[in-house]
Order: sequence, then structure tokens, then C-alpha cells
Amino acid sequence: MSEHPSVMPERMTDPSDALVFFGATGDLAYKKIFPALLSLVKRGRLDVPVVGVAKSGWNLEQLRARARESIATNGKLDEAAFAKLSAQLRYVDGDYGDPATFQKIHEELGAAKRPTHYLAIPPSMFPVVVTQLAKASCCGEGARVVVEKPFGRDLASARALNKTLLGVFPERFIFRIDHYLGKEAVQNILYFRFANAFLEPLLNRQYVENVQITMAESFGVTGRGKFYEETGVIRDVIQNHLLQVVSYLAMEAPAGTYAEAIRDEQAKVLRNIRPLCHENMVRGQFDGYRDEPGVAKDSYMATYAALRLYVDSWRWEGVPFLVRAGKSLATTCTEVMVELKNPPQVVFQEAAPRIGNTLRFRLSPKVTIALGARAKVPGEGMTGAPTELAFTEEPEQGTAGRMDAYERLLGDAMQGDATLFARQDVVEAAWAIVDPVIHGPSDLHPYAPGSWGPPEADRLVADIGGWNPIVG
Ligand code: BG6
Repeated sequence: MSEHPSVMPERMTDPSDALVFFGATGDLAYKKIFPALLSLVKRGRLDVPVVGVAKSGWNLEQLRARARESIATNGKLDEAAFAKLSAQLRYVDGDYGDPATFQKIHEELGAAKRPTHYLAIPPSMFPVVVTQLAKASCCGEGARVVVEKPFGRDLASARALNKTLLGVFPERFIFRIDHYLGKEAVQNILYFRFANAFLEPLLNRQYVENVQITMAESFGVTGRGKFYEETGVIRDVIQNHLLQVVSYLAMEAPAGTYAEAIRDEQAKVLRNIRPLCHENMVRGQFDGYRDEPGVAKDSYMATYAALRLYVDSWRWEGVPFLVRAGKSLATTCTEVMVELKNPPQVVFQEAAPRIGNTLRFRLSPKVTIALGARAKVPGEGMTGAPTELAFTEEPEQGTAGRMDAYERLLGDAMQGDATLFARQDVVEAAWAIVDPVIHGPSDLHPYAPGSWGPPEADRLVADIGGWNPIVG
């Protein structure tokens, strides 16, 4: 178990006074980090030195030019805010294995005492970087580290990685990013559940028939073949993003909104999920995957997986949780569908076998929360039709109050608020669920791009009437 005192960490720490980010010339920095930094500056949430680190043979001016291009392409350039960010920017060029690089970082940090070290680099480099940071005295009290997923490859490697990080930083200062937790729509699962009283009495085995979570992406591996060959869909999005979503949906009410109250409940749920067996999993690979650059001609990596999970708790005993995710599917959409049981008696004879009482959270691309119900069709007789009471938001960025996941998460880490980051025991509990099925060989079924995955996955839902269609 991790060290996780149940007190508000926000009260235990001062905000960070510098941001060091490794991988400053990389892809993630270009696509996500610079736009997030600019938004933070604009909101007045980032007013400290920002030290980019990479080994590219660049200088500060080149990094500034890259930051500008990144923001113009992936965000919205605001000249005044950019001038400010530009003035805060520093650059250290050097090898991550070379102590001289870390001496330079130390110098750039100047008087800063509580830097946030953000490792936007391959996980294999984490141990080297944190060890060098410690040696160069860049990890004093209050210093923190932010790490990107994937957090390990399995339970054993995640534990080893945790051990390395915990050798240098205390758990409350380790921020493991799962950008799904920073999404407005994912936060809304928690909010909607616990800010309203009418829903809670329904969300349990008495009323819920099944829960289905779908993360469909209509694109393939988009040039990330090499990365995907090492991860596959279970490590890429199920062990992390989708199990975090399961934990928000299935957890008990937290005692408050401080980090450990929420993360304690997440950990409890994940620990109660039965470790997967092959029987409860179907894996698929889209036709054409093996022709992608960086992919082996005989690759056995899954680009699709469907799982049937059980949460062994008083609340959820016997309710199947179906989770499926895949690349090159029919559409791009992430949705949680809670299907409620039929009323105990058929009062109106027209009722279909599936009444259509549902609770639906669409997480992307649109954000929707909808209650599915039947309502009477006007006219003679008592016949009805399914309808939805829905709340929908368009996914525009940059409008007042709205935040990109990276902006939210980096800002939170700088403030020392770990609520939206994966805690050690939560990460390990999630690995423990998938660990039994990610090592050995398992069946792999081909599927056509643009389809809903291999038809073999239907066997997982045969007893509950099939997969819920994703509409719209
Ligand atoms: C990433 C995965 O973590 O999440 C990608 O590596 C996936 O494969 C992405 O496409 C989905 O996130 P989002 O925010 O674009 O839905």
C-alpha cells in the first residue's frame, strides 16, 4: 500500500516554483504541452521559470520558435501571453545520462526550491532521469515529478517503476498522468453521480442489468506502429483510461473531494474487480495492421479487445461490466452505457424485451449525459417509444472556463493537487486485473477496418442481448 495520508494535500504543500520538462523538442510537447502552458499563462496559473530539456543540439531561440509553431498549430496563439511564456522559457540541451546536463538544470533553477519535473519521455528513461535529478540536488523538499503513461508494461514492471520513483519522491509528489482523468466529461461522471441524489439508489445490482463501456476510434495506429507493437490496446487504453472510467462509475461516494478520499474509493473498486481470464476476453486485429510501418509481418498484437469484468462487491455482485476498445472501428466515440433492468411486471403489453431504461455518458467527441426512458406516444392506446432526456455540450476548446486535460493536469501538479492523477495502489490494482491475460499467447481474430471489431466478441454479450448500439 502506498503512503496516502487522508488529509488534504492541498494544505500540505506550497505551489511549485519552477517547471522542468524533459522531452521539450518531442511530439507530446509539440502537440499538447506548449498549448497547455500558454493557456496556463493566460489564466495566470503559470508564473515561474519553465525549463525545457532535450538532446537535440538546439538553443533557446529554437525552442521558442518551436513553442510558437506548436501553439499556432495545436492551440490558439495569443501574442501577449506568448511573450510572457517566451520570457519564462529556458532551455538545457544535453544527454539524460550525463551529470553535466543536470548541473545545467540546477543552475537554471536558480532559487527555485520546489520544481515540478515533468518527464515527457519514454518510461525506460525515468530511472536514469530521476536518479540524476537527485544527484544534482534538484529534488529538495516539495519537488515533484510528473510521469506520462504507459506506467510500466505489467504489474511487476509497474511495481519496479514505483520503487524507483519512491526512492526519490514521496508518493504525494508523484503525479502519474492519465489524461482521461483530466477530461471534463470524465469528471462529470463523478459530479453527476454524487451531486444528485436521484441516481445513487439506482446504481447497483438491484437496478442495473449491465454496464457497457466502448472506446471506438475510426483511425488506425497513425504512424505509431512501433509504439503500438509494444503496447497493444489493453496496455494503451484499457489498463489506464477505461479502468479509471470504470472506477469512477462503480465507486462508493467519497468522503470529500480531496485527493485521497477519491483515490481511496477508486482503489477499493479496482481491487474488487476479478482478475481477467481468457474466457472473458476477445482480442482482435484489424486487417492491414501488419502492413503499418514499424509493425511485424506476423504481429500478434491486439488492436481491439473486449472484456467482461465483474466487480465483486455488495453493490455490484453479478452485474457484468463490458469494456471494449479498438482502432479502425466504425466510428470515433467513447461512451458509457448503464442499462437498467426492466420493470418487474409488464403493465403495458407493447413493451419490448429491452425497455431502454438507460443512463448514458458520452465522453467524446461530444459530451452527453442522457437518461433513456420510454414515453407514451400521443394518441389512442398505451403504447410508447424510447426517448432521452439529455444534457449535451459541444467539445469546443478555449471557451470561458473550459480546460484541456493537459492544462488542467499540469496546473494541478504545480499546485500539488493529486486528485486527478493515478496513485500507486490504483495503478497496481489496474495492472493486477489485466496481468493474467497480457503475457501468454491468446486468440486473435481479424476484423475489417470500419467494422465493429471481430464478431467473436459477441459471445461476451450473448446473454445480455448484444452490444448496445452506438448511435450518432
Ligand atoms: C492515448 C492513446 O493515451 O489516448 C491513444 O495512446 C488514444 O492510442 C488516445 O488514441 C485517446 O485519447 P483522446 O483524448 O484523443 O480520446
